[in-house]
Amino acid sequence: MLDKLERLPADSILGLAAACRADPNPSRVDLTIGIYMDEQGLCPVFDAVRQAQQALVAEEVTKAYMPPAGDEAFIQGMQRLVLGDGSSALRDKRVGGVQAPGGCGALRIGAEIVRAAAPDARVWVSDPTWPVHFPLLGSVGLTFETYRYYDPSSHGVDFDAMVEDLKQAVSGDVVLLHGCCHNPCGADLSLQQWGVIAGMAQQQGFTPFIDFAYQGLGDGLEQDAAGLRLVVERVPEVIIAASCSKNMGLYRERTGIALFVCRDEANAQALVSQALVAARRIYSMPPAHGALLAGRILRSETLEASWRGELEAMCQRINGLRSGLRQKLEDRSGRDFGFIQREKGMFSFLGLSPEQALRLRREYSVYMLDSSRINVAGVNARNIDYLATAVAAVL
Ligand code: LMR
Repeated sequence: MLDKLERLPADSILGLAAACRADPNPSRVDLTIGIYMDEQGLCPVFDAVRQAQQALVAEEVTKAYMPPAGDEAFIQGMQRLVLGDGSSALRDKRVGGVQAPGGCGALRIGAEIVRAAAPDARVWVSDPTWPVHFPLLGSVGLTFETYRYYDPSSHGVDFDAMVEDLKQAVSGDVVLLHGCCHNPCGADLSLQQWGVIAGMAQQQGFTPFIDFAYQGLGDGLEQDAAGLRLVVERVPEVIIAASCSKNMGLYRERTGIALFVCRDEANAQALVSQALVAARRIYSMPPAHGALLAGRILRSETLEASWRGELEAMCQRINGLRSGLRQKLEDRSGRDFGFIQREKGMFSFLGLSPEQALRLRREYSVYMLDSSRINVAGVNARNIDYLATAVAAVL
């Protein structure tokens, strides 16, 4: 029965990360998978996480299952972090939250809810979007439409085209938005543009579904949430998939949450019950460790302050790398790379062809996605000159 199954190609992102790790060239540069790396090229454990973990290990008395919706401190803390202290939706108890295995698990639970509510819903995704959105949401049976988003010639958002395309989104459709630090292009909407999209959702009745995986890595925790919060204030129903992978460095702990902003409290409770049934069908219960750590951080003033400080330093370092890389690339190539400094978060397209990306891999051991998406956080003082020289050589 099983021997007819063929070997499948590796995932486009994970496969390249593995290829880079296997490259014996000591000068290899890994700009593939979106993980934060420090000056030493290591993905560090936050101090706040370490402290929370020590306390958890000392105090933990059971490994019994978590409550199906997850850790209460985590759910409360994440709702506050994402929606803000002043959120009227939270005050009105119109938000349901379910802990999920990472942002991916939250996206999948959100998709299950959409499918249950509107089996024929079309999901509008940006062109381009994170490739894993397609299997995560599509395997539930939802279909996709794309809206124009990134304009390679301006290296920015083609907002007129986005609006033009989204005019076709109707009630019963879902529009998937990247809350901040767009993956893969790094080009974000301005607050004013978020306002326009919120207005369209109100007018046309489509449901915003916000993938919020990079809060705190663009301009800061509050600034990065401004667009999302504006949508939540204006649009009665919003689905959010948030992740602690990047902003708490909890990648392997699979720590995320699906939030459902609803018209009223009863509806929010109904959606939580639906989400729990969906989760039981797929993975039964969420993993505990990461959420227990995040919950401890978010319920302790001291730990939260320490974590916020560390995240801010990370964010500043990424933005410093953006300006440093821009400068080096411009010096070496004589071309304009100002967009790298305008874009946000971990990712930018360098604007290279797949052939150029391949040459960089083959001839220089510089690994980026074929689309020329780079993880800016993979740049450091040791590799920045080598990287800029290699890129200039293939231009
Ligand atoms: C990425 O896009 O590199 C990250 O979101 C990690 C992943 O799972 O692909």
